Amino acid sequence: MNTHSAPSHGAVHTEIRDGIAILTIDNPPVNAGSHAVRLGLIKALQGAGDLRGAVLIGAGRSFVAGSDLREFGAPLAWPELPDVIAACEDAPFPVVAAIHGVALGGGLELALGCDYRIATPDAKLGLPEVSLGMVPGAGGTQRLPRLTGRIAAVEMICGATRVPGIRAEALGLVDALADGDLLEAALEFLAQDRPKRVVAQLTVPDEGSAALKAACDKALKKGRGRPNVAEAIRLVQAAADPDVATVLADERAVFQRLRLEPDAFALRHLFFSERRAGSVDGLSAKPRALASVGVIGGGTMGQGIARACLAAGLPVTLVERDAEALERSLTALRDALDARHARGRLTDAALAAQKAALSGATDVADIAACDLVIEAVFEELSVKVPLLEQLDRVLPENVVIGTNTSYLDINAMVADLPGKSRVLGLHFFSPADVMKLLEVVRAEATADDVLATGLALAKKLGKQPVVARVAEGFIGNRIYAAYRRRAELLVLDGAAPETVDAAAAEFGFAMGPFAVSDLSGLDIAWAMRKRQAATRDPNARYVSIPDRLCEGGRLGRKTGAGWYDYPEKAPVPSGAVADIIREARAEAGITPEPVTADTIQRQLLIAMINEAALLLAEGVAQRPSDIDVTLANGYGFPRWKGGPLWWAAQENPEQIAADLDQLERGIGHGFTRGPVAQTLAALKG
Ligand code: NAI
Repeated sequence: MNTHSAPSHGAVHTEIRDGIAILTIDNPPVNAGSHAVRLGLIKALQGAGDLRGAVLIGAGRSFVAGSDLREFGAPLAWPELPDVIAACEDAPFPVVAAIHGVALGGGLELALGCDYRIATPDAKLGLPEVSLGMVPGAGGTQRLPRLTGRIAAVEMICGATRVPGIRAEALGLVDALADGDLLEAALEFLAQDRPKRVVAQLTVPDEGSAALKAACDKALKKGRGRPNVAEAIRLVQAAADPDVATVLADERAVFQRLRLEPDAFALRHLFFSERRAGSVDGLSAKPRALASVGVIGGGTMGQGIARACLAAGLPVTLVERDAEALERSLTALRDALDARHARGRLTDAALAAQKAALSGATDVADIAACDLVIEAVFEELSVKVPLLEQLDRVLPENVVIGTNTSYLDINAMVADLPGKSRVLGLHFFSPADVMKLLEVVRAEATADDVLATGLALAKKLGKQPVVARVAEGFIGNRIYAAYRRRAELLVLDGAAPETVDAAAAEFGFAMGPFAVSDLSGLDIAWAMRKRQAATRDPNARYVSIPDRLCEGGRLGRKTGAGWYDYPEKAPVPSGAVADIIREARAEAGITPEPVTADTIQRQLLIAMINEAALLLAEGVAQRPSDIDVTLANGYGFPRWKGGPLWWAAQENPEQIAADLDQLERGIGHGFTRGPVAQTLAALKG
């Protein structure tokens, strides 16, 4: 074998083996396609000389995880990715991308600029630009459809999906799979005298216009009609145009414009904030073992948590109060797995594995061998405290105990426990196997390695962790409560619930606050208000409307009526509710005043922002960006607005101050003003 090393170009090393150049991209930790990588590749390709072929491969964990997003807020330096791809296409020899780990965004576009692609079966390939407010900008919308057809390309690009190597091969995106050594497989592939095969010169397969239109309509709806989604669809459709150079230039121009639009800045903010939220400054402890989970309470949340753990490959033992309740929960869990299997979401093997990993018990002593135990029993101190005492007594010292309480004071709950340092809050959102957010609650006594275990659990389950200290409602529910209170006061002062909901939806929330209340049920908050009645400040403004709705049996969708009527599935404004609102206003001596959609939106947002500033000042949340991550992942806040604090930081500070004054007047007695200006400055700084 004839091997020699050619000069290295920054982040790219070249080795020539039997006339084939092996270009290794080495830019730890994830081989982001930064300027140094692009420059290294173009120099290596242009200086390659007389070769039989070239292999592009990544050092370390991945091929190329994507472009370097930090470069996207400013002008890009030469060479840009299309220049590197042109060098691959212009090379007089075939170039093979050898893909392991991830090939995302610009990483996959680079691979598509090669003549062939070989991947490991578990490699992940995708074009996530749409989820970052942009479109693929280096030919992704043109080359992908030439290999997979436009329907699969629209789905993959607009859904920002990552497909495993094995599926990529079935789609035609990958030419061969490498089961053993990836580099050897790529060299062997090239050894079979492959001709040059420029993807951009292939013809787009014809799939029929009706099927394509249906896929595009679906993608646009799923993408909430965002302008970048519409652009991505238009560009993929245009891939049938034989003048590929013109469409590529169009794609590049759209990308260059979109990456500097407010949506893209906001989504990049969330991208970096989400990565940061999973870390705790100064925490160096290693997580404890996490190979099996016990879940106590097999109700709504316990079942959801069990489903999430099983899907992540963790064996689960579910504990219920008695054999009958246990059987009910286990049956419901097995039925849910069967339903996923029937919908094609679980393979036969995965169904069998998850069923085998699920067991049940009625005695907590039976979960002593689990590494982590999560309780999701009734939200009552009289149930939770004795259970925690029992767990602390029965479980070996190494076992971590998580509580899924929504509002209760974890510090008080564990005050008398000898093993309180192993307890933390693990606040899941419903449905727990679907919702991304997991609030990891660090109680006063929680040990560092226990906190680290909570974060490791989030990672294992594919959840977005946010670390909170103990506070009523932690971060998310407390901010949401302030938002809902503002919404209810807006109604008391003159707005119709449907007007408030429409304004929230127009801002981009998945649903307005009253539609959300109807969906989750009005009775939980009602019970809480009754509990708090004795300690409520009598001078604070009180909105009695939801109490009156509940008293009249209007508990939300489940009773066919709440803030809205539900003659069919969709909510319809209710005359009966309008009467109740009129009565409540009359009783409070309020003359209703009209309020604009803009004021409603600004007041809902400033209520969130003020509460966020208070939470940060109290140290409940670690950093402003964690607030944005919480709202975007658990409360339907429009991601393209970056979260409430990011949104506010882009606004005129004088307008924000005026909004805050108006909030103070609207809330009235008992209002606490948070350090909003400082919080927004901290987010920017
Ligand atoms: P649920 O009422 O649906 O389920 C509670 C289950 O716990 C019941 O099946 C009950 O039989 C079982 N249980 C009660 N005491 C037990 C004991 N000593 N040993 C074993 N099992 C016992 O309640 P849900 O909605 O699942 O809530 C559970 C916890 O999760 C509560 O703390 C709640 O605040 C919290 N949570 C609820 C959310 C929701 O959206 N429902 C969201 C986030 C947290």
